[in-house]
Amino acid sequence: MHRKILVTTALPYANGPIHLGHMVEHIQTDIWVRFQRMTGNECYFVCADDAHGTPIMLKAREEKIQPEELIAHYKKEHEADFSDFNISFDNYHSTHSEENRILSRYVYLKLRDGGHIRRKTISQAYDAQEGLFLPDRFVKGECPRCGAPDQYGDSCENCGATYTPSDLKNPVSVLSGQPPEVRQSEHLFVRLSNFTDMLHKWIAEEISQTEAQNKLKEWFEAGLNDWDISRDAPYFGFEIPDEEDKYFYVWLDAPIGYMASFKNLCDRKGIDFDAFWKDDKETELYNFIGKDILYFHTLFWPAMLHGAGFRKPTNVYTHGFLTVNGTKMSKSRGTFITARTYLNYLDPEYIRYYYAAKLNDRIEDIDLNLEDFIQRINSDLVGKVVNIASRCAGFITKNFNGKLSPQLDDMDLYRVLTDARASITEAYEGRQFSKAMREIMALADIANQYVNDQKPWVLVKDPVQREKLQSVCTQGLNMFRVLVHYLAPVVPKLAQRVAEFLNDPVDQWNRIDSPLLDHDISGYVHLLQRVQKKNVDAIVAASVEPYPDDSAETNNEISIDEFSKVDLRTAKVLEAEDVADSDKLIRLTVDIGTETRQIFAGIKGFYDPESLVGRTVVIVANLAPRKMKFGTSEGMLLAAGDDDSLWLIDPGDEVGPGQRVS
Ligand code: MSP
Ligand code: ZN
Repeated sequence: MHRKILVTTALPYANGPIHLGHMVEHIQTDIWVRFQRMTGNECYFVCADDAHGTPIMLKAREEKIQPEELIAHYKKEHEADFSDFNISFDNYHSTHSEENRILSRYVYLKLRDGGHIRRKTISQAYDAQEGLFLPDRFVKGECPRCGAPDQYGDSCENCGATYTPSDLKNPVSVLSGQPPEVRQSEHLFVRLSNFTDMLHKWIAEEISQTEAQNKLKEWFEAGLNDWDISRDAPYFGFEIPDEEDKYFYVWLDAPIGYMASFKNLCDRKGIDFDAFWKDDKETELYNFIGKDILYFHTLFWPAMLHGAGFRKPTNVYTHGFLTVNGTKMSKSRGTFITARTYLNYLDPEYIRYYYAAKLNDRIEDIDLNLEDFIQRINSDLVGKVVNIASRCAGFITKNFNGKLSPQLDDMDLYRVLTDARASITEAYEGRQFSKAMREIMALADIANQYVNDQKPWVLVKDPVQREKLQSVCTQGLNMFRVLVHYLAPVVPKLAQRVAEFLNDPVDQWNRIDSPLLDHDISGYVHLLQRVQKKNVDAIVAASVEPYPDDSAETNNEISIDEFSKVDLRTAKVLEAEDVADSDKLIRLTVDIGTETRQIFAGIKGFYDPESLVGRTVVIVANLAPRKMKFGTSEGMLLAAGDDDSLWLIDPGDEVGPGQRVS
């Protein structure tokens, strides 16, 4: 049965680069979409940039350009990133588009005329210097519950309390540093509670992930609050019809952007828009999202659709967050890796496979462990899969002029591989990609075992075994071909190269029903390189930012407790040398009393390395080690000065190494 499916990924904000966290979602979804297409379904895949809202407006202001220019720049960058990761969108649009303006207006007017909008005057933080109302995240102050300083206006990172900016003690605007005024203004709200019964039913019937169900139950129990959908000027977004200087909140028009992107595609390709959005009888709609935006997609979004007379999603598929080497991506550790930095050093197919090998249908976080990554690709894709082809192809090319035999050596064994299709299909359909990869690798083991047992490299020496050699290698290549079909949604470029090499398309799974026999293959081309550790190290080195993630914060005050966490110690320089490939760095080996450490310090040109040996200096001893291009730096040297002059902090020669500095 041929299904008609529309799939979306969440719309990335148009004010920052795509990173490997975003790529979890786009790769997961792309694999699912390619799987649908390869098994004969009609599957459309759309996305767009999310171009509206205060942060985008402010970023444009800061760069002294129009928001339109900013979002055009990021759209171009995002599209290039996705295309280079082989994400097979049918369309990539923008929420700042005519289609979206019309659809957002349409949805809003339906909600309004259906009695689902109410007006309410609220008080809000206002930055008089900047002339705008401040979103919660743009106000900081002391937590009303635990008193922790420097907390955002919506929640406390210290004690977890949630509140509104007006609850903060001593609040300041993040933009101007001034205490905000409290100003009144009238806002428009969607009466979410009007949809309680509908949402209850839809969630119970359609949302399949139990973790999502549980979260939603909590939210229902807490009660559905009305949803504020308006923002006052100045705002970068769509004006609300029949209102003065009011704009749709970015999260109103963002999901409608899914429809707008699809509308744009339909208009170009003659696809029936209404069949996918008005009616849910013949078509399926899936939104793939991250766990942080579940509320928007399972409460606000279906309520909007329902209120405006559209169909609701068939399901919403939620994934967890990416961690790298077990922790949150971090700029100072070099693990906040952008899509482009990755692409500069490695083949996208590696990480597509790695994510596939880790992903399941749950909302768990997934970890990219860089050591494991190298190991996994080299042992699975190169060592198991590509290996089969490279062990068989040469014999066919050299001894049989590239022709496969008219019969397989072992049809039953071939059927073992093709029979696995049902359970691999089920795993892909259910987003159990790690299970699918495990099954495929188990089949690759079987195929390799077969080649090991048949030993074509021995058969080739015996002229009597000529026919056997051809049918054994034909068997090996046909098993390889089945595996590549199964893997094609994950590694589409590899599949393409295999199609060229076998001289036969790899585009529909039902092709494997019959083996390739009596068929001319092209010469073996190199299919996949091993991952080099040096490239992975280079990615980390290129991703390191010298300052911690929160360097941009305006309020730099720290408490005495925070200061005392810094382990300042005297250290004695044992060795020092200029780093040849760097303008700034000297490599030092220092004795800190308890151990020796390697430190890269940006003091080249200010000190002759030799003169440093034997001196006592002050270092930060508990700084997280930082991987650099030249090695790992295990501490930081203290110095005073600027770009032109520099003095090492010098406690004097009487002090030995390992003394605490405070
Ligand atoms: N613009 C909104 C989505 C609007 S959808 C109508 C947004 N944008 S985002 O750029 O912040 O995130 C886009 C998607 O990437 C979200 O689904 C989000 O969960 C996902 N991820 C962002 N960082 C991520 C990780 N570190 N790990 C996994 N997914 C992550 O939210
Ligand atoms: Zn607190």
